[in-house]
Amino acid sequence: MEIILIAGIAQNNVIGNKGMLPWNIKEDLQHFKELTIGHPVIMGRVTYLSILEYLNKPLPNRMNIVLSDKVEDKKPGFIFANSIESALEEAKKYSDRVYIMGGQSIYKQFMPLATKLEITKIHKDYEGDAYFPEINESDWLEKKREDKENSENKFSFITYERKPQIIKPVKKGMFIAFEGIDGCGKSTQVRNLVHHIFEKSKYHHVVLTRNPYKNVSIREILHQDTDPYSQAEKLAELYINDRKDQVEEVVKPNLKDGFFVVTDRYKMSTISYQTAQGLEMQNLIEKQSSLPIPHITFIIDVSPEEAMDRMRKEDVSVRGKEHKFEANIDFIKKLRENYKIASEILKENGEKVFVINGERSKEEIFQEIKEIFDREIQN
Ligand code: ADP
Ligand code: TYD
Repeated sequence: MEIILIAGIAQNNVIGNKGMLPWNIKEDLQHFKELTIGHPVIMGRVTYLSILEYLNKPLPNRMNIVLSDKVEDKKPGFIFANSIESALEEAKKYSDRVYIMGGQSIYKQFMPLATKLEITKIHKDYEGDAYFPEINESDWLEKKREDKENSENKFSFITYERKPQIIKPVKKGMFIAFEGIDGCGKSTQVRNLVHHIFEKSKYHHVVLTRNPYKNVSIREILHQDTDPYSQAEKLAELYINDRKDQVEEVVKPNLKDGFFVVTDRYKMSTISYQTAQGLEMQNLIEKQSSLPIPHITFIIDVSPEEAMDRMRKEDVSVRGKEHKFEANIDFIKKLRENYKIASEILKENGEKVFVINGERSKEEIFQEIKEIFDREIQN
């Protein structure tokens, strides 16, 4: 199905102000009508409310689908959907083409799915509070353009089509690390990224690895006592040596073959955890300076309360028995702080570290990770 974003966009990317269109261009409304008539349209809550205000009924001769789970006043004649998938399912019943008519968050969510953009570009800045997402030149090709003007405005009707995705062969491979406190959602996002890399091209070989890598005595120490501050030196040494094995046996050989290597935890875990245990951060950084630097490190940042809550909900048979670092909230607070400090230091050293807000839905988090990955893979 064709998924088409249709929008009027000012020069400064504004699409709306206080729930309304900041301009009044008759020709644009006519253009919108000509394109959308006979096809379903999908809108968000704010756009729905503004239609009610202007018309007090759905746009005629088109199925009006409202994507929102927060609409209380459900007027007849509209269809209400509470997910992107169900909105598209509805739309499919009426046409092989659906128009997405805003606002900001709806455009943003559909942008990755869109096959075409029908944009009315207004060649002037407007004040507003809602914006269109970036139209990335590497993704979109201007197919058609009509320049127009009336007494007040110059504007253009522009049609963009999605460029065929050319995947550059990756010659050198890429090394990606995920970090964060226990329960932050790392493993979930590691799985998402591995899946994404493989989906991009069947020629992308992905190797998934983790820390601790193969030294089983580390796990024993984690369960020996419940004091998060004990055994700091020992753990630092074991983790770093274990990581050196991982690097020689898994990371380097696979990168050399041009493969992707994704690791669940890496050197920042030692830097943050063992610093929280009382060791010196700078020293832990230096001790690991000979290890390969990941092309990207993602830190999933969540509050200790949220992480503990997530872990509590998980089945012990999946998660494993609680170990010394998981129960003490003050320790976890220090950890989170250390991740922040360490990320600043490593960034200053030229490493690519991205702190991702983990207190969102799994999908929203992955969307951001995917965007960063897709951008970095081009470089
Ligand atoms: P980690 O590997 O960092 O310990 P997991 O990915 O195993 O974290 O996630 C811990 C728990 O939290 C799992 O039950 C998972 O399903 C859940 N979870 C992960 N991401 C989110 C999220 N964005 N919102 C709510 N729960 C999440
Ligand atoms: P594990 O249950 O294997 O990790 P995860 O919760 O990520 O599945 O336990 C590893 C624990 O050890 C975890 O709490 C983080 C901590 N840790 C360190 O203290 N230093 C390190 O270098 C690493 C890799 C982990």
